[in-house]
Amino acid sequence: MTPEPRPAGPMDDPAMKPAANPLILGIETSCDETAAAVLRGRTILSNVIASQADIHKEYGGVVPELASRHHLERIDAVLDQALSRAGVSLRDLDAVAVTSGPGLVGSLLVGLQAAKAIAYVRQIPILAVNHLEGHLRSVWLEHPGAPFPAISLIASGGHTSLYFSRDEDHVVRLARTRDDASGEAFDKVAKLVGLGYPGGPVVDRLAKTGNPKAVPLSPPKMSDGSLDLSFSGFKTAVLRHAKARGLDRRFPAGEPDQETRDLLASFQTAVVEFMVKRVMALVRREGARSICLSGGVACNSLLRARLAEEAGKATIEFFAVSPALAADNAAMIAEVGRRRLMKGEIADLSLNADPGLDF
Ligand code: KG4
Ligand code: ZN
Repeated sequence: MTPEPRPAGPMDDPAMKPAANPLILGIETSCDETAAAVLRGRTILSNVIASQADIHKEYGGVVPELASRHHLERIDAVLDQALSRAGVSLRDLDAVAVTSGPGLVGSLLVGLQAAKAIAYVRQIPILAVNHLEGHLRSVWLEHPGAPFPAISLIASGGHTSLYFSRDEDHVVRLARTRDDASGEAFDKVAKLVGLGYPGGPVVDRLAKTGNPKAVPLSPPKMSDGSLDLSFSGFKTAVLRHAKARGLDRRFPAGEPDQETRDLLASFQTAVVEFMVKRVMALVRREGARSICLSGGVACNSLLRARLAEEAGKATIEFFAVSPALAADNAAMIAEVGRRRLMKGEIADLSLNADPGLDF
């Protein structure tokens, strides 16, 4: 893409300080959700999410080409809806925030082009947002009073990492997965026993009627003593057990049998306990006063319950994002954009997608 020079806009005038409560449009298209949201300051005026889960379901995972094509088809309607639900028009916006990475390049580009067009036409600042920072801050957007220091767990379909924050401005990554993401493990295990995509919600539901002690699954051990995470071993152990017991059916008729549910319950418990153990080790090491959980896997009922229980025992607080902000959404993108705007960290129209962007 040839970089276009950013035309002179309101932010080029040094007298133009951002409003205390700017009206920001957020755009998120990094994976399989087409999302747009409007925030006034930290208040969410609208949060529209068009999921493509139904489209990718039959393939058992996200197909990048289909994802970008569907983003293209839906982005205009999603933007219109976000603006109309917020009761504002493009003319009212102070800035537009967009996910620039990490994610699927073809998907990211759709959101970026929409954001650039709006920034150019309306002559407003464009703000580049790291998707993972969006997940991290989604907790504080909903719970602005969460005490610091905090340990945050981002658990999603693409990433699983742990962070330490002295306060909202200082975030340091302490650990991350060395292979699969936690959500990816849920999705792969579900696919293995013939359940649909995304696997997390269905495993969560079926595990409630399974015996979590039926299949012993041991957590990975890091030879260097690091607190990094790893999920591929759980998946391989489940695959081995499923094959040995003939549970790796492609098209099970109706609801899975008891033995499959026992396997799913055992898998979910092993993965959740592994994450809880890591979180609590870091809470103790860093003297944290709160635990913050975000990302799609934050919807997992066992993970929420266990972290709440452990936080209670440690007499610290636990905050998990609500489902509307757990999955990919643009409200969290607008919130990070608001912070960029306040700090004067404005991007320009040469902004490009960065699929491997680190956080
Ligand atoms: O954050 P997200 O929407 O997308 C990424 O940025 O990856 O997370 C989606 C992931 C999927 O892997 C999905 O299976 C998982 O979150 N997920 C769950 C649950 N609900 C969604 N995993 C476990 N339990 C759930 N209830
Ligand atoms: Zn995400």
